[in-house]
Amino acid sequence: MRKPIIAGNWKMYKTRDEAIEFMYQVSEALPSNKLVDSVICAQAPMMRCLIKRQGDNLRIGAQNLCAEDEGAYTGEISGKLLDSYNVEYVIIGHSERRNYFGETDEIVNAKIKAALRNDLLPIVCIGEHLEERENGTTNKVLEKQIKGAFKDMSAVQMENMVIAYEPIWAIGTGKTATAEQAEESCAFVRSVVRELFGDVIADGIRIQYGGSVKPANIDEIIAKENIDGALIGGASLDPEKFIYMVKAAVKK
Ligand code: PGA
Repeated sequence: MRKPIIAGNWKMYKTRDEAIEFMYQVSEALPSNKLVDSVICAQAPMMRCLIKRQGDNLRIGAQNLCAEDEGAYTGEISGKLLDSYNVEYVIIGHSERRNYFGETDEIVNAKIKAALRNDLLPIVCIGEHLEERENGTTNKVLEKQIKGAFKDMSAVQMENMVIAYEPIWAIGTGKTATAEQAEESCAFVRSVVRELFGDVIADGIRIQYGGSVKPANIDEIIAKENIDGALIGGASLDPEKFIYMVKAAVKK
């Protein structure tokens, strides 16, 4: 059985004090990490204050890392540094990074390798634009992103990978894919992983859905067979909503 994973992507929101307040409110309320993995991915300067307060049932993740471990790369964040702070997860290839910061599948691939070198667990984002959904090329786009992201990976390296399927048209727009659309695409993602890495990896890999997930729709989404969790932006900023959504995943 795949353990569900709920990850909050805070993007460029919250100050230090707001983050501390959130941690205070969720720390006692989250279900056991034996039942569900709960993760908050925050801006890098917050890492220390979050790690100090994470408790047993919350893990902390970054939203990006550099493909290099160290060097003259002003403004970048190294996986080596994240690991030294005991950060556990890192989001890679989020559509906002692909669209605003020019991240290609090659860059995503290099960043995944950097994460693995530094014992970080990648949450790799893929997803189609609205035009691609409308012109029927969603699967083609997803397959290309998967093959690009995981190029040269061994089955062992794929073991702890998390994939987040996030249709770009559903991110921050309030437009969620229907649970059926989400399931259909997540099942397709799993089938591509199966073709590339075989049954053991495909059956074990966790695939999240992301895009306007909130308390009102998580139950229906998480109930789907190929959806093992959610990557949540806006709704993860609110402690009560976050707790509700983690609890919803436990019921799976
Ligand atoms: P959203 O963001 O939940 O605010 O749509 C999801 C994401 O960008 O990961």
